[in-house]
Amino acid sequence: MKFNNLLIAEKTQWAIITINRPNKLNALNRETIQELHDGLKMLDEDKKVKAIIVTGSGEKAFVAGADIAEFADFSVKEGGKLAKKGQELLFDFVENLSTPVIAAVNGFALGGGLELAMACHFRLASDTARMGLPEVSLGVIPGYGGTQRLPQLIGKGRAMELIMTAGMIDSEKAKEYGLVNHVVSQEELLPLCEKIAMRIANNSPVAISNAIKAVNAGFKHSNDGFASEIEAFGACFGTADFKEGTTAFLEKRKAVFPGK
Ligand code: COA
Repeated sequence: MKFNNLLIAEKTQWAIITINRPNKLNALNRETIQELHDGLKMLDEDKKVKAIIVTGSGEKAFVAGADIAEFADFSVKEGGKLAKKGQELLFDFVENLSTPVIAAVNGFALGGGLELAMACHFRLASDTARMGLPEVSLGVIPGYGGTQRLPQLIGKGRAMELIMTAGMIDSEKAKEYGLVNHVVSQEELLPLCEKIAMRIANNSPVAISNAIKAVNAGFKHSNDGFASEIEAFGACFGTADFKEGTTAFLEKRKAVFPGK
């Protein structure tokens, strides 16, 4: 399989997927989302692969979000479709994959980037990483499961504050919040992920895939939340705030929101 935006390294018992659009800080455009789906599916079907590590190329970013340039002129309908399709193709898909997926957060994980990391089964971060859901600064909301998975992982109050302020937290804070399990230097990040992958590889893949199913089943009651997120995300695309927020980002200026 040939990928334009991913690098895939297959080791003896695990694989590393590197999202490779460094000049766009690995932002998730449509093609990258499709390739991640295809790449994960391919590795999941490979019996030798007992764990998958997902990381970003370069030293700066894991993934700096969904590709803003791609959706800035979308309608309400297109916005809703974007969220729904993305959730089905990638974010729900990762969460429910039977092979363990570890996010190696090597830099900025913002918006769709943090949402991807949160959809992975667990996360490690470098001490240089910064995480946040800045969507409301663009006049939109997280649409790839962020309004659901962030409160699941760090609690409602902390998630509300992070979403409302569009702020970023560093790795130490993310560890304190339980968003990431371990924080190490950038050089140590992949080796530690591989060490964990190696430990996972010693165990029963069938039992692990059942454990993933069972753990995820405990959170299934929030399915309505995901549907509400898609609807609310789409609705943002019909607002003047969204037009201003995305235009300001692309024009590299601060947004001035018309507001309520
Ligand atoms: N979508 C599209 N392009 C993006 C992007 C995104 N989410 N994030 C970064 N880029 C692009 C920039 O437009 C820039 O492209 P250019 O060189 O062609 O102009 C390039 O990546 C480098 O980013 P830049 O903003 O110049 O880097 P920086 O070091 O000044 O800032 C960030 C880094 C992460 C703080 C900043 O890029 C940012 O705020 N990104 C958007 C984050 C966001 O809101 N994500 C949620 C999307 S829903």
